[in-house]
Amino acid sequence: MLVTLVHLITGAADLAAAFLFMYGLKRMSSPVSAPSGIRVAGIGMLVAVLANFLQVFTVDAAAKPHLWVNIILAVVALSLGASVAWFKGRTVAMTEMPQMVAIYNGLGGGAAGAIAGVELLGNKTHGLTQLIVTLLGGLIGAISLSGSVIAWAKLDEILKKPMRFKGQRYLNALVFLAAIAVAGYIAFSVDNGGVTLLPIQSVIWIFFGLTLLIGILMTLPIGGADMPVVISIYNAATGLAVGFDGYIIQDPALMIAGMVVGAAGTLLTLLMAKAMNRSVSNVLFSDFGDVSKQKKSKMTGSEKPVEASDAGIFMRYAASVIIIPGYGLAVAQAQEKLYEFVKLLLAAGVKVRFAIHPVAGRMPGQMDVLLAEAGVPYDLIFQLEDVNDDFATTDVALVIGANDVVNPAARTDKSSPIYGMPILNADKAKRVYVVKRGQGKGYSGIENQLFYEDNCDMVYGDAQAVLVKMIESVRGLGAAAA
Ligand code: TAP
Repeated sequence: MLVTLVHLITGAADLAAAFLFMYGLKRMSSPVSAPSGIRVAGIGMLVAVLANFLQVFTVDAAAKPHLWVNIILAVVALSLGASVAWFKGRTVAMTEMPQMVAIYNGLGGGAAGAIAGVELLGNKTHGLTQLIVTLLGGLIGAISLSGSVIAWAKLDEILKKPMRFKGQRYLNALVFLAAIAVAGYIAFSVDNGGVTLLPIQSVIWIFFGLTLLIGILMTLPIGGADMPVVISIYNAATGLAVGFDGYIIQDPALMIAGMVVGAAGTLLTLLMAKAMNRSVSNVLFSDFGDVSKQKKSKMTGSEKPVEASDAGIFMRYAASVIIIPGYGLAVAQAQEKLYEFVKLLLAAGVKVRFAIHPVAGRMPGQMDVLLAEAGVPYDLIFQLEDVNDDFATTDVALVIGANDVVNPAARTDKSSPIYGMPILNADKAKRVYVVKRGQGKGYSGIENQLFYEDNCDMVYGDAQAVLVKMIESVRGLGAAAA
């Protein structure tokens, strides 16, 4: 009776969790509903975890002598993981988010790989199909773990340079083929009674060693700046591995969660690649960002520095201003000061809008999150396709900490690594102010002709300090008038 009741409750809980994951994800598609979407998906996860603990009432405790020890260990692991994640989630800086996503994703892949490992080492698989799915889950999960750890190290600048050497691709292919061959050997042997040359346990460890090596070798040659796309690929892989695990241990919630993550990760990867006008294979196998291999383009004109106060006052008397935030805004954590400045302009009757490029910053939606954090109303924020035609009729384009997303080379220079990437038409505005600290290049490492154009002035300095000066200058005008 109790067992039937538990089966009923867990079945319903799995269904509820699956619904909450999907509904949560749907809500994450807009910055307005995203916070509640994250909470909904979190509740889904809680429901799924609690439902799994209920399963204990369906197990014959006499047949499982370590049952309670295992449950205590699971509770300790969950509490530790949840406390670390809670603390880190509250304290992480916006610019460190990609690293955090990388490491969490790696842990997800590792957990998926570990489930497959436990099933294989404990000889718990039934039939060839389940064995193959388990091996696939192990392969993908382990690649995702070691690849994500390397991605994290690159984003955190622990590993500074891409590691490339002659014959690297052949070595990668060789290790991959070796892992597939060992997987085939395991599948064949286990399916035929577990007779192998080496003890089967050792062969399984060799398999996991090779799969971890694939993740490392695949990620080492890719440039640090491409890591957000790489993480998104590994995120999709982790989802797939988790989905396979759900099949192996017959857990529908795990299966659905894995497939949702896998599909979302795949779509995100494709969207990011499209917004950068690059293919996924170009991200994985090209030397993008390797400045040593780039042709130096000659800039015409000169950079014209102006004072922040002058630029501030000019904008105060403009009719319309479009602001283009970029990675530097996140580095400077200047979003609050930026909105303070915008409020002054709005109060003076200036029409102000924000233009968001889909890959501004270093992770999807980073600029939307920054602006939301500062309290900027959503009706002031416009995506590239909704605002790009308006630059030509706008008085000022204020580029703040952005570079590649306003580089006209993407339109005109066929030899440029960013050629073809859609950009924001800042150069078409009547006047352009660019706020940046100095001569630093953007993510792609190339020069920007915009900075040398006649209608462009450079306001050098950290974005936060520049905005403080702009605010003071506009406030000063009001005080002088009074
Ligand atoms: P970037 O092209 O990287 O330019 C950022 C600029 O900010 C730099 O030129 C830098 O110049 C300036 N800066 C840095 N710190 C600053 C500070 N404290 N105050 C003021 N300025 C500062 O940024 P973007 O225009 O946002 O373009 C994003 C790039 O990242 C694109 O090429 C995109 O393809 C790539 N990417 C994006 C993503 C996602 S999903 N967003 C993923 C992968 C790659 P100084 O050093 O002179 O200050």
